Amino acid sequence: MLTLDDVRLTYNGGTSAEVRALRGVTLTIPAGEFVTVVGSNGAGKSSLIKLVAGEERPTSGRVELDGRDVTRLPVHRRARDVARVFDDPRAGSLPELSIEDNLALALSRGQRRRLRFAVGGERRALMRERLAVLGLGLERRLADPVGLLSAGQRQSLTMVMAGLRDPRVLLLDEHLAALDPGTQRRVLELTTAMVRRLGCATVMVTHNMEHAIDVGDRLLVMSRGELIADFSGERKAALSVEALVETIASAGDAVSDRMVLREEAAPAGAGR
Ligand SMILES: Nc1ncnc2c1ncn2[C@@H]1O[C@H](COP(=O)(O)OP(=O)(O)OP(=O)(O)O)[C@@H](O)[C@H]1O
Ligand SMILES: [Mg+2]
Repeated sequence: MLTLDDVRLTYNGGTSAEVRALRGVTLTIPAGEFVTVVGSNGAGKSSLIKLVAGEERPTSGRVELDGRDVTRLPVHRRARDVARVFDDPRAGSLPELSIEDNLALALSRGQRRRLRFAVGGERRALMRERLAVLGLGLERRLADPVGLLSAGQRQSLTMVMAGLRDPRVLLLDEHLAALDPGTQRRVLELTTAMVRRLGCATVMVTHNMEHAIDVGDRLLVMSRGELIADFSGERKAALSVEALVETIASAGDAVSDRMVLREEAAPAGAGR
C-alpha cells in the first residue's frame, strides 16, 4: 500500500523561480490497485512519480510504503520496493549489455528471498519464462545486446525487468508515449497482465484519455499540483472521453496537443 499524506513539493523555494509542483496531495493506493493519472502539462504528474520513487523529497508531508515512513529514503533504498518505467525506452536498460545481463542486474537489484534460489540454469529458465510471455521471441535472444532491440521490444524488456523485482509499487510515467499505436496496445496488455500478477500498487501517468479510462481501477485527474478528481468503480466505467476532457478544461487547464483523445482506428489489414 502506498500512502501520501498532505505532500507538498516546491522547486526553487524562496527564489523568483519558485514552482509549487505539488500543493497538498493526500492519497492511498492499496496493494493491487491500478491507478491512471491524467492532467495537462505541468500539472505535477511526473513530480508525483519522482516523489514516490525518492528522486525528489517533499517540502512537507509524508510518504509511506506498507505503513513504513519512506519520506526521506533515497532512490536506492526504495529500489527493491519501487519499480519505475520511464517514457524513453532507452532509459530502463543498458544497450551494450546483453538481455541476460540486464535481467541479471534487475534481479540482483531487487532480489527477494523467493528469487534467491534462482542461480545459473534456474535463473536463465526464469528469465526465458518471463520473456516468453511477451510473445516477441526475446527468450531466444538472451545473448543479444539490448541496443539491437526496437523501441517496443526494449520497453517490453524494461517492463519484464521491473516485474522481476517483485515491487510493491510500480510507477509508469508515460511509458507508452514513444511507441507506435500497435506496440502501445501490446505493451499496455502486458502492463495490465503484469499488474494483476504482481498485485502491486500501480500508478500509470498517461496522456491518452482512452487508456486512462479503459485501463486500471481508478483514475485521478491532476491540475496545478492538486488532485481535482478521483474516479473509480461505476463512475469510472461510465466516464466518457468528453467528460474527462471537460474535467481538465473546467480547471482552466489547456487540453494540450499531446493529449490523445481517441485512437485512430487501425487501417484494415494493418499488421501489429
Ligand atoms: N527540477 C525542477 N525544477 C524546477 N521546476 C520543475 C522541476 N521539475 C518540474 N518542475 C516544474 O514543476 C511543475 C510540474 O512539473 P511536472 O514535470 O511534474 O509536470 P507533468 O504533469 O509531469 O507535466 P508533463 O505532462 O509536461 O510531463 C511544472 O511547472 C514544471 O515546470
Ligand atoms: Mg511529466
